[in-house]
Amino acid sequence: MHLTLHVWRQADSGSDGRFERYEAADVDPDMSFLEMLDVVNERLQEDGGEPIAFDHDCREGICGTCGMMIDGVAHGPLPGTTTCQLHMRHFEDGDEITIEPWRSAAFPVLRDLIVDRSAFDRIIEAGGYISVNTGSAPDANEIPVPRADAESAFEAATCIGCGACVAQCPNGAAQLFTSAKVSHLGLLPQGHPERHDRVVGMVEQMEAEAFGSCSNHRECEAVCPKDIPIDFIARMNRDFLVAKLKGRHRRS
Ligand code: SF4
Ligand code: FES
Repeated sequence: MHLTLHVWRQADSGSDGRFERYEAADVDPDMSFLEMLDVVNERLQEDGGEPIAFDHDCREGICGTCGMMIDGVAHGPLPGTTTCQLHMRHFEDGDEITIEPWRSAAFPVLRDLIVDRSAFDRIIEAGGYISVNTGSAPDANEIPVPRADAESAFEAATCIGCGACVAQCPNGAAQLFTSAKVSHLGLLPQGHPERHDRVVGMVEQMEAEAFGSCSNHRECEAVCPKDIPIDFIARMNRDFLVAKLKGRHRRS
């Protein structure tokens, strides 16, 4: 395959960025998207150029670091798939592909396709944990958990914190990520005692960051590589309202 890439290059968050054009020749259809970029970078370096900076770690759809906008879609054209698990066979020979970093005020560009997602870390720090001592791993049946709750908690826990939901949202909202992190703990018995403090802390931190507000576009759900449904946003909003009615404030 021969592809033409239009890649966003930006030295750092304080510099202006621009698109650069690169020709990617002899691309194997079985390469992943990141492997294709590796080959482009090798050739760039051989020619004395600066490689395209992009984030990656596991390359197995687990770590959530590899996101980028591919032709305007977070993680590219294949639903339920991270950039690292997207293969070049989903493109056509001769395609022109535009590659950009996540576009969100809350995720400043660090370099080229790499953005700073530490706003997500601060939301987790505001309550995305269980602070009571839960002891060692209990026997499977010691704490009964309704099957529907267990399945729902597991579904929420598949969020890999990639940020595609924010990048695709026209408002740059972080509700899908935050609600998944609120829910996977709140649905289980061990997470229940801190349920209301957790939702207040995490939602108020989310609002303190540069994210926008949710207005139900559902773009987040459409691009989430783990197919997290927006039902969790409704659940988070309900929990937040109940917590506020109970007079809960964020713990300092
Ligand atoms: S909700 Fe989906 S899109 Fe958003 S951070 Fe989690 S895995 Fe990524
Ligand atoms: S590199 Fe880890 S999810 Fe893509």
